[in-house]
Amino acid sequence: MKVIITVNYDEMSKKAAEIVKKQIKEKHNTVLGLATGSTPLGMYKLLIEMYKRGEIDFSNVITFNLDEYIGLSPDHPQSYHYFMFHNFFNHINVKKENVHIPNGIAEDLEEECRKYEGEIEKAGGIDLQILGIGVNGHIGFNEPEESIETKTHVVTLTEDTINANKRFFKSAEEVPRKAITMGLGSIMKAKKIVLLASGKNKAEAIKETIKGQLTTKVPATVLALHPDVTIIIDKEAASLIPDEDLKEIEVII
Ligand code: GLP
Repeated sequence: MKVIITVNYDEMSKKAAEIVKKQIKEKHNTVLGLATGSTPLGMYKLLIEMYKRGEIDFSNVITFNLDEYIGLSPDHPQSYHYFMFHNFFNHINVKKENVHIPNGIAEDLEEECRKYEGEIEKAGGIDLQILGIGVNGHIGFNEPEESIETKTHVVTLTEDTINANKRFFKSAEEVPRKAITMGLGSIMKAKKIVLLASGKNKAEAIKETIKGQLTTKVPATVLALHPDVTIIIDKEAASLIPDEDLKEIEVII
């Protein structure tokens, strides 16, 4: 696990965008795993700028998003479909048919999960997976539980997540209670993983993720088992990492 600590959110976003750019330059038909949330927004903005300057071509890139709320149609402003098109896809030359996001209004949700997992495999697996992290250590929508399904599945959101995400809705009551998420197994099959985190409210989850002790109570701890993970965090998100763990970290400030 490589950990990069940056001075601030903008530097974190820059580092992440550079990694995505390098990946697409090396493999024009890269399969990208993408995340929603406020954390990757800066990275998406920079990638759009790079595209506009002619530095990246997304025409052969295939994307898979981690998750989607159940019950929100793609045109609902809080759906992850809407988020991705509004904040990223509408501004680059990715082909619509190459974009994959779980369908949260599918009639048969179990079938939708199976289909999604199959589509990732058919595309040859994810080359580079971008992740954010929940305050409770979730990745995608894999919530802390006694046991966690490893493939794409339907999940019930925890109170922590509903509270954290209610800021995007008029009230907590409006936050969907369920979601479809890629499983930890689907995520771990990615060839490379980059996890981004910024701000004090992520510091506890990051401390646990870096500790190297696996627990389903902090789903991101599974990343310790992956051979190619880069964690890019700002100073605030890094603020609770104990000194002994810091020694092994590549700090770039
Ligand atoms: C959401 C998403 C995650 C995201 C996380 C953090 O619930 N399902 O994929 O990483 O919360 O969001 P934010 O970046 O807004 O803190």
